[in-house]
Amino acid sequence: MAEVRHPISLTVNGVVHEVAVPARRLLSDCLRHDLGLTGTHVGCEHGVCGCCTVLLDGEPARSCLTFAVTADGHEITTVEGLAGPDGTPSPVQKAFSECHALQCGFCTPGFLCTVTALLRDTPAPTDDEVLEGISGNLCRCTGYQNIVKAVHRAAELTAEESAS
Ligand code: FES
Ligand code: FES
Repeated sequence: MAEVRHPISLTVNGVVHEVAVPARRLLSDCLRHDLGLTGTHVGCEHGVCGCCTVLLDGEPARSCLTFAVTADGHEITTVEGLAGPDGTPSPVQKAFSECHALQCGFCTPGFLCTVTALLRDTPAPTDDEVLEGISGNLCRCTGYQNIVKAVHRAAELTAEESAS
């Protein structure tokens, strides 16, 4: 018997996508395979590593733990949507590059989404707040020091941007 597909509408990075998905299609698979947005990475597929983190209505969410059908009618931001319309990297993206906060980069899309929401809610975080904020994202390469530096640098860049 053919698999039943459900029509859903997802607004991803400001663009409305109408897709038909099986009930158990993961949001991560929908983004990567149905919409071609492969910037969202999938590591553990068990909600542990945070690689697949996207913003769902502005809040970090693990797309490997979210069924695409449950995101019907919602707004999603993936790493592809963080830069400006002209491709200018966001303050968080700039800071990660400037502070060498990545090596292999596999974890990076998840960190960028998590940190974007963290700084929106806590514009000048302490070290403890940064560590708490990124505690759901695992990185096997960097040892985290440069990621923490990048979060503070992103906070500075964001403050500079809003002052200018
Ligand atoms: S792939 Fe989703 S948390 Fe690891
Ligand atoms: S940069 Fe390789 S896992 Fe984080």
